[in-house]
Amino acid sequence: MSLEKLHASNADQADYWNGPGGAVWTEHQDWHDAFLQPVAERLIAAADARSGEYVVDIGCGCGATTLEIAQRVAPEGEALGVDVSGPMVRRARQRTPEDLPARFVHADATVYELPPGNIDLVVSRFGVMFFADPAHAFANVRSGMKPGGRVVFACWREARANEWAIVPLRAARGHAPPLPETGPEDPGPFAFADQGRVRRILGEAGFVDVDLQPEDFELDFAIGRGLDSAVAGAMTHGPTGRMLRDLPEAARTAAAESMRAALAPRMVGDRAPVGAAVWMVSARNPA
Ligand SMILES: C[S@@+](CC[C@H](N)C(=O)[O-])C[C@H]1O[C@@H](n2cnc3c(N)ncnc32)[C@H](O)[C@@H]1O
Repeated sequence: MSLEKLHASNADQADYWNGPGGAVWTEHQDWHDAFLQPVAERLIAAADARSGEYVVDIGCGCGATTLEIAQRVAPEGEALGVDVSGPMVRRARQRTPEDLPARFVHADATVYELPPGNIDLVVSRFGVMFFADPAHAFANVRSGMKPGGRVVFACWREARANEWAIVPLRAARGHAPPLPETGPEDPGPFAFADQGRVRRILGEAGFVDVDLQPEDFELDFAIGRGLDSAVAGAMTHGPTGRMLRDLPEAARTAAAESMRAALAPRMVGDRAPVGAAVWMVSARNPA
């Protein structure tokens, strides 16, 4: 599947999401959908998509939120997922029921040309933090929106407030080289943690009524399947997954032991609850 358009500054991210990142997310699509379902519920409630609306899901990945929204806007409305990852878009298309008004394009949201003035609502679950030039990307998306159209997305707050990121990273420390340091303007999962930065980006892109609501809740590393599942989940996903990806077998086994020791005391029945801290961001295209 060919990428419709790519802004040169996003080439590294495109490589990652068409390579190892896309492979993990498609191989473990069920795990991600279950793990992140609490975020989907909050996002969909905040977005309040209505029957007949045209909704765009930015960085839609394997399509979980796009498909849920398509059900809400059907039959007259439509949900369009835009993602730079070919494998993830392919998976999203494969799982779309024939009668659901959901479409997916393989494109960089920074430059993908949306028909002007059509979009009622833009949503994203963790799909907007990976642009090299986020103001450019949001301005491009806004150009496809109706006057008064709304944008609602979830992004992570700072890493230290997110146990799901910090607990496994601490357990993995010493078993693998640390991840490269990232600067405050670099793309990555925590690139929108600073609310001042998010306000600046959305303002530069021309949005108004920017609002950030902090939401704190629990995610379950085990997705209800016990400690082995929690260890596998914690070792495969997020920043820790990146860190441990290419480890030799012996180091991986040692890391798994540390992970088990870190998660075992947290188990509640078959669940491994870990704290999550999210911004639910909303803004509007001027009327
Ligand atoms: C953390 S994943 C979230 C996927 C999905 N929204 C979900 O919650 O399951 C981030 C997604 O953003 C996509 N992405 C990154 N840069 C992008 C860009 N420039 N244009 C479109 N999608 C992008 C990735 O390919 C990936 O699918």
